[in-house]
Amino acid sequence: MNESQTPPKNIVLIGFMGSGKSTVGRELHQRLGYPLVDMDQVIEQRARKSIAAIFADAGEEAFRDMETSLLEELNDLAAPRRIISTGGGVVGREGNRGLLRQLGYVVWLHAPMPVILERTGKNRDRPLLHTDDPGARIEALMALRKPLYEETAHLKVKTTGLDCSELATGILESARYFFTGHL
Ligand code: S3P
Repeated sequence: MNESQTPPKNIVLIGFMGSGKSTVGRELHQRLGYPLVDMDQVIEQRARKSIAAIFADAGEEAFRDMETSLLEELNDLAAPRRIISTGGGVVGREGNRGLLRQLGYVVWLHAPMPVILERTGKNRDRPLLHTDDPGARIEALMALRKPLYEETAHLKVKTTGLDCSELATGILESARYFFTGHL
């Protein structure tokens, strides 16, 4: 937990792969001017390799340890006002869920399975979907993770039918309310 005088005013985006966290994160960053931390990108830059390569070389647990360390670091920063876009599996560890809520306002971007399948099918960056039946894998992971997103988020946003600008407007309005009018 950060010990600074100023309470954290991060906006933290969680949700399944392909739910729009990175896109909405960029939009919020542009609107508020807060620095954007895309956790997957930071991990890739530090490891100097892609997430897929980290999974292949060191295994998923090593990647999860990197996620947890980064969350701890973000919690230690003084006066944090950031937009934090997370990887879809960050809610898997109980400790991470606590760290996420300590960081600030946690927003769950939710998209239905067919939309996720359509979006994630466009690239091969996601090692967990490197399987013969990505649809079945998405269903199984989604069933496991839904209650975890639910438990972690302050706000659930259904993304269907809304563009990233509309989503950002809604999130900002509720974040202002959450932070009692001051962002
Ligand atoms: C993962 C999601 C990915 C990335 C890694 C694992 C997951 O991030 O962290 O491939 O477990 O759902 P995105 O949600 O940004 O795709």
